[in-house]
Amino acid sequence: MAACKSFLLLLFTIFMALKPANSLPAVFPTPTHFQSLFKQAKNPKPNIPYSSHYFPQVLDHFTFQPKSSKIFYQKYLINRHYWHQGAPLFVYTGNEGDIEWFAANTGFLLDIAPKFQALVVFVEHRFYGESMPFGNESYKSAETLGYLNSQQALADFAVLITSLKQNLSSEASPVMVFGGSYGGMLAAWFRLKYPHIAMGALASSAPILQFDDIVPWSSFYDAVSQDFKDASLNCFEVIKGSWEELEALSAQREGLAELSRTFRTCKDLHSIYSARDWLWTAFVSTAMVNYPTDANFMMPLPAYPVQQMCKIIDGFPAGATRLSRAFAAASLYYNYSQARKCFDIEHAADVHGLHLWDWQVCTEMVMPMTCSNQSMFPSSGFDYQEFAEQCMKTHGVRPRPHWITTEFGGKRIEQVLKRFGSNIVFSNGMQDPWSRGGVLKNISASIIALVTEKGAHHVDFRSATKDDPAWLKELRRREVEIIQRWINEYYADYR
Ligand SMILES: *[C@@H]1O[C@H](CO)[C@@H](O)[C@H](O)[C@H]1NC(C)=O
Ligand SMILES: *[C@@H]1O[C@H](CO)[C@@H](O)[C@H](O)[C@H]1NC(C)=O
Ligand SMILES: *[C@@H]1O[C@H](CO)[C@@H](O)[C@H](O)[C@H]1NC(C)=O
Ligand SMILES: *[C@@H]1O[C@H](CO)[C@@H](O)[C@H](O)[C@H]1NC(C)=O
Ligand SMILES: *[C@@H]1O[C@H](CO)[C@@H](O)[C@H](O)[C@H]1NC(C)=O
Repeated sequence: MAACKSFLLLLFTIFMALKPANSLPAVFPTPTHFQSLFKQAKNPKPNIPYSSHYFPQVLDHFTFQPKSSKIFYQKYLINRHYWHQGAPLFVYTGNEGDIEWFAANTGFLLDIAPKFQALVVFVEHRFYGESMPFGNESYKSAETLGYLNSQQALADFAVLITSLKQNLSSEASPVMVFGGSYGGMLAAWFRLKYPHIAMGALASSAPILQFDDIVPWSSFYDAVSQDFKDASLNCFEVIKGSWEELEALSAQREGLAELSRTFRTCKDLHSIYSARDWLWTAFVSTAMVNYPTDANFMMPLPAYPVQQMCKIIDGFPAGATRLSRAFAAASLYYNYSQARKCFDIEHAADVHGLHLWDWQVCTEMVMPMTCSNQSMFPSSGFDYQEFAEQCMKTHGVRPRPHWITTEFGGKRIEQVLKRFGSNIVFSNGMQDPWSRGGVLKNISASIIALVTEKGAHHVDFRSATKDDPAWLKELRRREVEIIQRWINEYYADYR
C-alpha cells in the first residue's frame, strides 16, 4: 500500500522522493531518487553578479583531536558593488545545495543592498556544492559524513564572518543574516547561538517547529491538500481518487505497459511506485512554489501553478479517468517549457550533492510526516523503527530524533523566546506546506512573524518583478523597515 512519504526536503528542493520499497509499506526511503529536473533548472549556470572565494575552514569546531583541525575550502560569494566601509553585511546562510543556485534565486538581498549600502555575501554549506571537506570522497561513509551537521555549519558561518570582517577592517559593521527553508532555520538559530556576530536574522519559510511532536505530523500534507482544495474541490477529489486507480493497475497483467504509455515514459516502468512518486513530487513541489508570478525555481512554471493544474483537471471531458487527469496536471510541472519528448520517470539522474539531505534527515533533521485521511494522498502513518532501520541500512547511522529540539529548542517557543532572544523575523506564506512548521505568531516586539495568505516558499526572497502583487511588495517593505530599525538601533548602541 502506498505509504506517506517523508517528503523531506527542504530547500526548495524537496526532491527527495524517498521511495518506499515496492514490497513494504515503507515510510522511508530506500536510496534516494532524484528528479533530473534539478539539473535542468540549473542549466545553464546562472550568470550571477558575485565573485567566488574559498575560505580555509576547520573541519571540526568542537573537538581538539589532531584530525579535527584538518582544513577544507569553503566557498563563498561576495558582491561589494554597493558597499562602503562600516556599512552592514548581509549574509545568506547557505542551505543544502550549490550556493550559486541560492544566490541566483535570492535576488532580494541585492535588491535591497543599495538602500543599506550593504556588502552581500552568500556562504555555502559544508558538504554541498564545492565545499567538500574530503573532496570526491566526502560522501564515502559515515566516517566522513559525520562532519555534516547544522552545528558545524553554524560554526563555519561564525568563523568565516569574523574573518571576513577583520579582513575588511569592518569589525564594527552590523551583520544581518538571511536564509530560506533549511537556510532560514540556520539563520534563526545563528541569531540565537551567535548574537555577538549577527545582530538580526530574517528567516523565510523556516520550519523550525517541524520536529518532534511540536506540530501535528499530518500538517504538511494537509497543507498541500488545502492548496488544491482551495483552487477547486473537484480537483482535490480527482487527485485523491487517482491513487487507487494507479494501485489497481499494478494488479493488471498489462498494467505497467499501459501506465508507461499513459505517462509517456522514456523507458518502460518496472513498478507503479515510481509513477506515484513522480505525481507526488509534482503536486508537493507545485504547492511549495505556488508563486504569484511566472518563475523558474525548481522548474519553469506559470503564475499560481496550483490553480493552473486544477484548471487542467477541471477542463477534462467527462469520462476521463482520474489518473489520466492527474497525469495531465503533473505534466504542467514537468513540461511547462513544452520541451519534453517523454518523461524519464524511473531513471532520473542523481544530482551531485543534493542526496546529502538524506543523510541529514537520517541524523538530526527528523521531521515525522503522516498523511491524514483528510489529505489528497493515501493515508498512512510514520513508523519510527522502520525509518531508523532504513537509515542504518543506507547510511550506517542511527537518527537522533530529539537532538534538534534539545540543541535549538522549539517546544513552547513563544514563552521561551519572549524573554530570551530578539531581532528575528519569521516570514511564511500559507500556500507553502512548510509554513505549518514555521513560527506564525508574534513572540515579542522584535521576534516577529510576517504571514501572507497567498505567499509560497520564501517568495519574499525572489527578485522583485514588475508583476509582483501588492501584498508581496508590502511584505518586502515591512521587512526592509524592520531591518532598518534594527540597524539604526545597532549603530545607536555601538556608539
Ligand atoms: C577521487 O579523485 C582522485 C583524483 O582525481 C582519484 O584518483 C580517485 O579515484 C577519486 N576517488 C573517487 C572515490 O572517485
Ligand atoms: C582573510 O585573510 C586571510 C589571510 O589572507 C585569509 O587566509 C582568509 O581566507 C581571509 N578570510 C576570508 C573570509 O576570506
Ligand atoms: C510536452 O509539451 C509539448 C507541447 O505541448 C508536447 O508536444 C509534448 O508531447 C509534451 N511532452 C510530453 C512528454 O507529454
Ligand atoms: C479519519 O481519521 C479519523 C481520525 O483518525 C477517524 O476518526 C475517522 O474515522 C477517519 N475517517 C475515515 C472516513 O476513515
Ligand atoms: C506581528 O507584528 C507586526 C508588527 O510588528 C505585524 O505587522 C504583523 O502582522 C504581526 N504578525 C502576526 C502574525 O500577527
